[in-house]
Amino acid sequence: MGPAFSGGLANGPVELSTRGWGATLTPVRVEIQPIGIEVDVAEGESLIEAAARQGYSWPSVCGGEGVCSTCAVDVVQVEEPLDGPTPAETETLRMLPRWHDGDDSLRLACQLRPTPGLVVRKIGVRKASP
Ligand code: FES
Repeated sequence: MGPAFSGGLANGPVELSTRGWGATLTPVRVEIQPIGIEVDVAEGESLIEAAARQGYSWPSVCGGEGVCSTCAVDVVQVEEPLDGPTPAETETLRMLPRWHDGDDSLRLACQLRPTPGLVVRKIGVRKASP
């Protein structure tokens, strides 16, 4: 199987070569605080995957399987509504005490599909070691 992406996210649209039809999609830019970075998330890609591809490490225990809750973020701002959490994401979020306090700003970075204008807060995101 070839690479999932051809072309650079930092320089514009991404061609998703694995789809075989040459579709060019514009990535969604997400701001991450408090580190103060922006990452471009391609169609079908999680925020964790996008951050990793752009050289950042994200707290995770399960490797993005949606079962550990370590990747959870606070949604600080949205311009376009996010899809709600799936039942599986909700089940994992239930492990977090804040979820039981009614805090609906929590989402799993490995599961949510970003929309334009999204700003999240996550302690522990950092530049990956070379
Ligand atoms: S990385 Fe484990 S739930 Fe997201």
